[in-house]
Amino acid sequence: MSTDPFALFQTWYTEARSTELNDSNAMALATADAEGRPSVRMVLLKGYDERGFVFYTNRESRKAGDLAANPHVALLFHWKSLRRQIRIEGPIAFVSDAESDAYFASRSRDSQLGAWASDQSRPLDSRATFEERYEAVRARFEGGAVPRPPHWGGYRVTPERIEFWLDREHRLHERRVFTRAGDGWREGMLYP
Ligand SMILES: Cc1cc2nc3c(=O)[nH]c(=O)nc-3n(C[C@H](O)[C@H](O)[C@H](O)COP(=O)(O)O)c2cc1C
Repeated sequence: MSTDPFALFQTWYTEARSTELNDSNAMALATADAEGRPSVRMVLLKGYDERGFVFYTNRESRKAGDLAANPHVALLFHWKSLRRQIRIEGPIAFVSDAESDAYFASRSRDSQLGAWASDQSRPLDSRATFEERYEAVRARFEGGAVPRPPHWGGYRVTPERIEFWLDREHRLHERRVFTRAGDGWREGMLYP
């Protein structure tokens, strides 16, 4: 058994990538606003390494407002067919512009246009309005590359705590928890 939580994450994630039917990289992102009121939604993990876990979104969305007020978040993976859960907690920060640019450039053109067309989390009067906006940005960037919108980019969660939950018979589940200790990690177990 690994005592490096990133190595253990990689083992579980690699397995999930090959076994889960849909969106094995989907994770719940929990945030809280300035008053401490929580909200949660799914986002897609687009990269991870020892620095942390990266996702991309609109930086003027509701979640972005929460993150500006309170940069502490929790992430949750649940892979149903594997009966496994991973909980990650820590502070969040923007990824670099270069990293956001590189990821944006790798997206499909339709997704790139969608990032320009969507005022994520703000009220929309009708689907037709959204489709018109999409058509307008399509025409605007016709024949050229679509640049990354200034309001769109990545966030990286730096883990301070990672917990691996493994289903066991008779509900005697296993919980391994890693907390940061200096440059390394302290490992422990929790009652299920
Ligand atoms: C499986 C799944 C994956 C999603 N991935 C993302 C994502 O990577 N980025 C994103 O901005 N929204 C993603 N969404 C949409 C979000 O859940 C959410 O509706 C949106 O980001 C607005 O959230 P907010 O109003 O709290 O900011 C995803 C939804 C689902 C169901």
